[in-house]
Formats: sequence, C-alpha cells, structure tokens
Amino acid sequence: TSVTSFYEQVGGEATFHRIVAKFYEEVAKDELLRPLYPEEDLGPAEDRLRLFLMQYWGGPHTYSEQRGHPRLRMRHAPFKIGPAERDAWLRCMRIAVDEVQLSQQHRDQLWQYLEMAAESMVNSWF
Ligand code: HEM
Repeated sequence: TSVTSFYEQVGGEATFHRIVAKFYEEVAKDELLRPLYPEEDLGPAEDRLRLFLMQYWGGPHTYSEQRGHPRLRMRHAPFKIGPAERDAWLRCMRIAVDEVQLSQQHRDQLWQYLEMAAESMVNSWF
C-alpha cells in the first residue's frame, strides 16, 4: 500500500515555500505584525515557519533537527499576541494560502489547522 502524506499530496516543499514566502511578504507590510519580529531580516523566520509546517504535514523533520521540539506556545511567549495580532496573522496567511492551487479538501484541512493554531498562540486578552 502507498499512503502519501498531506505534504506530498499538495506538492511538497515548493508549495510550502510559496505559501510562506507570500505570508512574509504580507507580514513585512503589516504595521501590527512587523514590529513584533525582532530581526530586521525576515528570512530566517521564514525558513523556520516553512520547515515547521513541512514537518507538521508529514514532510522532512529538518525543523526539529535544527530547533528541537517545537514548543510553539512557549516560543511565542515573548510576543504580545492578542486577538488583533491573531487576526492579522490569519489575514496574511489567508492571502498566502489563496495564492496556491489546492483542492477544496486540502485547503479546508490546512485552513482549519491554521485557525486552530493561531487561536492557540493567543497569550494576551487586552
Ligand atoms: C516564530 C509571531 C502564530 C509558527 C514567531 C516569531 C514571531 C511570531 C514574532 C519570531 C520570529 C522568529 O522566528 O524569529 C506570531 C504571531 C502569531 C503567530 C503574531 C499570531 C497568532 C503562529 C502559528 C504558527 C507559528 C499559528 C504555526 C502554525 C512559528 C514558528 C516560529 C515562529 C515555527 C519559529 C519558532 C522557532 O523555532 O524559534 N512567530 N506567530 N506562529 N512562529 Fe509564530
């Protein structure tokens, strides 16, 4: 039997590369999100998010080889993430996901995860 991962089904690294590159193009223009990123160069953050998502969806485990256990809530603790930041993050991600051609089913599956993940990163309610 051959069971292919979501990662493979949507086109592998090239697809994640396109989504995350577009996402960071939007972050760069976002006046709420951009100041949260400590580094002037968004490239390294782009690499980390792309590698994380590739791993999450069944691709190579390069993220954990480089960064260890994701512990994403802990890694986001230094940044104030309220409902406005969550919504801005999802708005950028929506634009990015809409750029690639995915089947309705893959899109829905990806989006459901991203909404859940963004909600779980909220650490400030004012
Ligand atoms: C890192 C913001 C949601 C995955 C970061 C960083 C910021 C940030 C400022 C540090 C940049 C860096 O890597 O140097 C936010 C905001 C969110 C959000 C405002 C709004 C809800 C998410 C979600 C995911 C995610 C939903 C996953 C689906 C990551 C990853 C890193 C990261 C993998 C790098 C962690 C590491 O290895 O150090 N985020 N994030 N973020 N974020 Fe988010």
